[in-house]
Amino acid sequence: MAKTTEKPFLTDVMTLRRRAREHIMEGAVTSGYTADRETVLKLLNEALATEIVCVLRYKRHYFMAEGIAADAVKAEFLQHANEEQQHADQIAARIVQLNGEPNLNPEGLTSRSHAEYVEGEDLIDMIKEDLVAERIAIDSYREMIDYVGDKDTTTKRMLESILAMEEEHADDLVGLLEKMDK
Ligand SMILES: [Fe+2]
Ligand SMILES: [Fe+2]
Repeated sequence: MAKTTEKPFLTDVMTLRRRAREHIMEGAVTSGYTADRETVLKLLNEALATEIVCVLRYKRHYFMAEGIAADAVKAEFLQHANEEQQHADQIAARIVQLNGEPNLNPEGLTSRSHAEYVEGEDLIDMIKEDLVAERIAIDSYREMIDYVGDKDTTTKRMLESILAMEEEHADDLVGLLEKMDK
């Protein structure tokens, strides 16, 4: 038997309407938003820094790649750079929706980022460094998804779609290493 003290599953329409009017300037953040917004914003800003560092590292690798296998690898580096940029943009947009500010300050960028900026000595080295960075990104997105849980499903869905692409990136890089017999 259901306990009488249990909260009703859906908030009634009147309450929803009243709440929506109360803090109208908070935009997408309603009082039904139960995640810890400050922490979510901090995590999203760290992810933003990570994506930007990844864009820069892939760009560096794209321009510096040379050798017989360079053409195929360069195309992959460029594609990844562009996709990391899309992730950065998605994350920045979500930060603003949550009434935060995207931290795009170049100062401290690498210390806010989870992944590192490593230039790499040669093609193989570059691919390996990118793979390490992708694996770091995969783990940190997984942790963020667990943390956000069902308290902020929009952020969670965005993080899940980014995670899926980071997994693809890691897989692409492993494929390149295998082709190069390393
Ligand atoms: Fe990314
Ligand atoms: Fe990636």
